[in-house]
Amino acid sequence: MSTYLSTDRVEHHYHDVLIVGSGGAGMRCALQLADAGYRVAVVTKVLATRSHTVAAQGGINAALGNVNADHWHWHMYDTVKGSDYLGDQDAIEYMCRAAPRLIRELEHFGVPFSRQDNGTIYQRPFGGQSLDFGAGGQASRTCAAADRTGHAILHTLYQQNLKAGTLFYQEFFALDLITDNEGCQGLMAWDIAKGKYHLFQAKAVILATGGAGRVFKVTTNAHICTGDGGALTLAAGLPMEDMEFFQFHPTGIADVGPLITEGVRGEGGYLLNSEGERFMERYAPTAKDLASRDVVSRAIALEIREGRGCGPNKDHALLKLDHLGEALILSKLPNIHELAFRFAGVDCTREPIPVQPTMHYTMGGIPTNRFGEVVYRAEQGDEVVMPGLYAVGEAACVSVHGANRLGGNSLLEIIVFGYACGKRVLEYLEQRNYHPTLAADCWQRGVDRVEKLLPAHKNNDQAFRVSDIRNRMQTIMQEHFSVYRNEAVMADGVARIEALAGELKDMSISDSNRVFNTELVEALELENLMALSRVTAAGALARQESRGAHARDDYPDRDDVHWMKHTLASILDDEVRLDYKPVRTKPMSVESFPPRKRVY
Ligand code: FUM
Repeated sequence: MSTYLSTDRVEHHYHDVLIVGSGGAGMRCALQLADAGYRVAVVTKVLATRSHTVAAQGGINAALGNVNADHWHWHMYDTVKGSDYLGDQDAIEYMCRAAPRLIRELEHFGVPFSRQDNGTIYQRPFGGQSLDFGAGGQASRTCAAADRTGHAILHTLYQQNLKAGTLFYQEFFALDLITDNEGCQGLMAWDIAKGKYHLFQAKAVILATGGAGRVFKVTTNAHICTGDGGALTLAAGLPMEDMEFFQFHPTGIADVGPLITEGVRGEGGYLLNSEGERFMERYAPTAKDLASRDVVSRAIALEIREGRGCGPNKDHALLKLDHLGEALILSKLPNIHELAFRFAGVDCTREPIPVQPTMHYTMGGIPTNRFGEVVYRAEQGDEVVMPGLYAVGEAACVSVHGANRLGGNSLLEIIVFGYACGKRVLEYLEQRNYHPTLAADCWQRGVDRVEKLLPAHKNNDQAFRVSDIRNRMQTIMQEHFSVYRNEAVMADGVARIEALAGELKDMSISDSNRVFNTELVEALELENLMALSRVTAAGALARQESRGAHARDDYPDRDDVHWMKHTLASILDDEVRLDYKPVRTKPMSVESFPPRKRVY
């Protein structure tokens, strides 16, 4: 599979395709390519089945119509509306049309979906789902494996990849993309366990590194969600798209963050304020607790702001589900039962769970078209493809989620665009049948990233602590770029983040070991997070409207005249630069859904 070629410092490998990240998007894409007979390698900083897809709970959307008559076009309508009209409609149409076939394919791969009595895949209602373009009531579109759907999908895809011959480099940290005038040629990586450098040369590189939730302090995201692919892209001089749109899930466990799936409300659970009021009836009279996430999160934040929060600090809402009964909870929501007990000390078959809006999902990401090709704007303004570089899943911005993602569309995105990107790479590989000669020093930037951090001597007492800077960064992002935003608070946040990013340049660490140096890994992750915080903060301050997850007190309305456009944020000469590109309002084959007032 790989050939040892180079110096004793950097081991050189050749593959047809290199995938960075072993979540569902990377695995689905890898499978497509390995099955076609290509030499596919996955580089992942964790053990493959620990990727964050494993934490996805409630399910994956597809208009299968197993519960009520459904249609992909209605799914498309809901997704465009859910995105607050910032989603690209060609990509949304593609995703919703492909969903039923690709979910059935997952079933055939062996994903152990829950079943209905008639044997078909179990589907539950999720937020923002409607029938008949909003006229026909609530859809049940989310296919579930109890409340461990991501776990089921990830493990199945891993097994399929082992069968197909995909090679895994586990506990390898991605340091730098190798690019030249012809495009992307590979990746420099650090073997965490052995403390060695590796140069992966590949005809196509696919970034599937997941989201950047750890930019914030309280998040449903695992510690590994540090936006590594996005930071590599920025370092290569390419932009990130729509990073101001971070989704706050309405029901993270209060104070600590673990996710309580929307599936709880899908099964009939509901939110209460301190007065025992089912307050969602006021904010979303039709959909109530199953309005889209931005609407529910804002409602909880407003209840808290107006003094109707629960608990001694009046800082959360209560999610009531005991009325669903122990049998339903233990069969359909067993993971929630355990999480509520472990993280909130609550037996949810008897008591409500304390919840609050918690950062959950990165809607922005590496700009791609619907084939997974990374795109950027040339000087003349045309969108061009970066040859050899692709991005999929939460790391990418296709953009199917726009300003607000619908629950259940995230697992769908990784499957659909993992597949679509794999197909496009197959076409690319037909013309690209050689590995070019690389610049002699192409590995240098990657090596420098590590060497500048490692202390020359053990016990470097002068080094500043990675965890201190990370906490300060997360606190700034949490306090200045939360559910509700305004000019003064965000401007202060931008200044603070920029100052902190300056301090980061002098970072070194105290542990000089090369073997399994977790402080080194955390420092590299912090560099990545800081770059993403910078573009997030700048993009948010500039966007003078409220749309989806970006809710401003000082600009409370959506402004389609000036702001129906995607943000592109780059870091060039160490300065954040903003540019914009139009939303793709034209679908592939059906009529466009023009912007309308969003009510649920
Ligand atoms: O609530 C949930 O189960 C989360 C699903 C999602 O983010 O798609």
